[in-house]
Amino acid sequence: MRILFATSEVAPLIKTGGLADVSAALPAALHDLQVDVRILLPGYPQVLSALSNLQTVAEFPALPGFPAARLLADTLPNGVPLWVIECPELYKRGGGAYQNEAGVDWPDNAQRFGLLSRITALLGSAASPLNWHPDVVHCNDWQTGLAPVYLHGAAGAAPCVMTVHNLAFQGIFPPKWVADMGLPKECFKLDGVEFYGSLSFMKAGLFYADHITTVSPAYAKEIQTEALGFGLQGLLYQRRDVLTGILNGIDTEEWNPATDPRIVRTYSAYNLNGKSANKRALQRRMQLQLEPETPLFGLVSRFTEQKGLDVVLEIAPQLAALPAQLVLLGSGDEKMQHAASQLARDYPGQIGVQIGFNETLSHMIEAGADIFLMPSRFEPCGLNQLYSQRYGTPPLVHATGGLIDTVVDCNKYTLMRGSASGFVFKQMDAATLLDTVVRAIETYHDIEAWHNLQLNCMRKDSGWRRSAAAYLEIYARVMKQRAGAA
Ligand code: ADP
Ligand code: GLC
Repeated sequence: MRILFATSEVAPLIKTGGLADVSAALPAALHDLQVDVRILLPGYPQVLSALSNLQTVAEFPALPGFPAARLLADTLPNGVPLWVIECPELYKRGGGAYQNEAGVDWPDNAQRFGLLSRITALLGSAASPLNWHPDVVHCNDWQTGLAPVYLHGAAGAAPCVMTVHNLAFQGIFPPKWVADMGLPKECFKLDGVEFYGSLSFMKAGLFYADHITTVSPAYAKEIQTEALGFGLQGLLYQRRDVLTGILNGIDTEEWNPATDPRIVRTYSAYNLNGKSANKRALQRRMQLQLEPETPLFGLVSRFTEQKGLDVVLEIAPQLAALPAQLVLLGSGDEKMQHAASQLARDYPGQIGVQIGFNETLSHMIEAGADIFLMPSRFEPCGLNQLYSQRYGTPPLVHATGGLIDTVVDCNKYTLMRGSASGFVFKQMDAATLLDTVVRAIETYHDIEAWHNLQLNCMRKDSGWRRSAAAYLEIYARVMKQRAGAA
């Protein structure tokens, strides 16, 4: 089976969040299942400079509405082939994948990700300049959402699967881009790419894809409701027969406390002794008091409302008074960054804050914290709760999306049955979060219960095998449908 996996980020080359982790680990898992999977990614400077063996394999001189581009090929260290779109006019600049240095979206993002979509579709149809033709095109999030439109009706087009990683980001642009990027004007309608008078990349993908997946079964249901459908719940409900929730897995080599080079002492479910050295190292790194018994809460996140960081900031003074310690790593909303930094100044030795993106510190927090905080308002899947489970750091989460599907609330019954794997609260407010923090601390001080909880977490199988097999079933299904229709 040949799969073209189109995405706007791949770890460790370029990463703003979980999409990058999934775009690295899922293709690797498919590759292990003998699937011929190839990744397609824009050639941001970070990507071009990280790859040393790039070879030109095709030129795209005059795609309607886009500057000239080239396709370069390399292979990732895990053996997965990667294609990179080189187009200096659109990708060669400072800043990040979606925004400039000041955190403002690039004004030509429609064209930047329109090109990614256009080339995805080209490689997935008879017009491809390559000898390699995919059986299925796999698109991810709005950045590749126009590919299914370009593929629609193209000669020799492969069927396509669209995965929603986060419906909150939709890629909505002025309608002028429809003509400017060579899209047929008939597609700009309610039954098409139009969304309240604008062009929506996400809606385009959801409307034209042969199958839609999202990253957890619970989120697949939630996005069909007004509360979490972001205006697309009607379309998603209509297409529910071709909408499947497949839980994300994790890269169990990258996130392995027994071998992790980024932590000061490795450890495993057989011998958890090393965890306390990691707690001490984290306390030292964040200038917290070196108290082995005080419960230490950790958080690694984009600073946004989605992640419930505002509520964490609200309870932080009471949390410190319990007493407990708190470490926050992340960046995003300026006000939240400011408030977090102020907390660190107000509670020296008890609250430590690092603003920014820091891969090493994120591993140190997973290993060194006692409890991982993830009170997201909504969460399509979430990876950090899975990482923290693997590091014997039970997550404390809000009951939403993938968090429902991956964390079993700890109580006497679930502990006795061996299924408890964290702490779950239902009502998203400060009082409930604080109650749950207190509940987690009570369990933390019960040494035997805590040890059992940690072992349940660490023994969970959150690898990709099962989910990669579920994607294979979807690929086979759309191929069969296409063959039947032909
Ligand atoms: P989302 O994709 O919504 O941000 P996920 O939980 O799926 O949430 O994935 C987030 C990923 O990004 C994880 O790998 C997490 O460790 C990483 N991450 C988020 N913020 C930071 C940060 N400030 N520094 C390092 N890694 C981060
Ligand atoms: C998104 C979601 C997150 C998910 C990730 C990878 O960024 O917010 O919940 O884990 O994509 O699918």
